Amino acid sequence: MRAVRCTAYGEPEGLTLAELPDPVPGPGELVVDVEAAAVNFTDVLFVADRYQVRAPLPFTPGSEFAGRVAATGPGTTGFVPGNRVRGTGTTGAFAEKVLVPATAVVALPPDADPVLAAASGVASATAYSALRSVAAVTPGEWVAVTGAAGGVGSAAIVLARALGARVLAIVSTPAKADFCTGLGADAVLDLSSTPDVKRHVRTATGGGAAVVLDLVGGDLAETLLRALGRGGRFVTVGYASGVIPRIPLNLVLLKGVSVLGFEIRTFADDHPELAARDLAELGLLQADGLGATVTARYPLARAAEALRSVADRRAMGKVVLDLGPDAGTG
Ligand SMILES: NC(=O)c1ccc[n+]([C@@H]2O[C@H](COP(=O)([O-])OP(=O)(O)OC[C@H]3O[C@@H](n4cnc5c(N)ncnc54)[C@H](OP(=O)(O)O)[C@@H]3O)[C@@H](O)[C@H]2O)c1
Repeated sequence: MRAVRCTAYGEPEGLTLAELPDPVPGPGELVVDVEAAAVNFTDVLFVADRYQVRAPLPFTPGSEFAGRVAATGPGTTGFVPGNRVRGTGTTGAFAEKVLVPATAVVALPPDADPVLAAASGVASATAYSALRSVAAVTPGEWVAVTGAAGGVGSAAIVLARALGARVLAIVSTPAKADFCTGLGADAVLDLSSTPDVKRHVRTATGGGAAVVLDLVGGDLAETLLRALGRGGRFVTVGYASGVIPRIPLNLVLLKGVSVLGFEIRTFADDHPELAARDLAELGLLQADGLGATVTARYPLARAAEALRSVADRRAMGKVVLDLGPDAGTG
């Protein structure tokens, strides 16, 4: 099988395409023929060795995929070859075949679009649980989303609106502002042309946002904490800027706000009932076409370009590697 390989930590351009032996499933495992694999910001971090955990070299990046079960290991139950599935892991998905525990995949309807299915996992689940269970967003509330044109942010716009909230999308370019407006954001804040962010947020939200969903971190985080209304909730989800904010705690005291965190790897372990409820609700919303927005497809051989678009902050919505029959070998 062909697989994208990272043999030295660094830039996406260091990735190579290699021919590897097909994986063989062990007990409880299965091999999936990958039809599509979503690109996530974390893939860039793994390749650069800047993620919280290290992927030992050499490795195949890619954490989210959709495809067909190709083979099952001894004693593996629940799936048979040919089943359509979607799965998440940490690495291995940027390949024609991926080896995963059977517990890492969920069944897809036979007619599911693999590109959309691959894009509808982590980003949408993160956005939905952070809004629904952590921020406990209620109808009519204003939610300010940073990095709103990205994978998690674009899903957050759509899903917050589905929860009845109003969304202020915070982005860095006019093109991203237009993209977010097209997704249904009620208001946008373009950082490239907004000198006083705190005042803009407070004005746009009628006195202060109820919720900040922060995917970016950096200096913006403190500004947005100051732009919350009384009793607001600040949810820290990611640090795409590369800078983990340090916040003066007196702001929390003075404004009576809550600072909360969401991490998808631990959420289901810590709150299994909430996670199950959120996934069930999200599944219904996704069946109605809400959640992920795919804006770019690349063939496997151009994985580095796909990662580069995410690393360079150019990507909007979800970027997907398409291994389907029409995608070519390019
Ligand atoms: N906690 C969790 O469980 C969880 C789950 C998934 C993702 N995450 C994290 O959430 C964050 C967003 O993920 P994503 O998949 O939405 O990423 P993405 O699609 O790459 O979007 C990230 C957004 O962050 C903004 N940004 C600001 N400074 C940036 C920089 N220096 N480099 C790149 N982007 C920058 C960009 O928007 P502007 O240009 O408009 O500012 C970009 O659109 C990441 O930090 C990711 O690791 C956390």
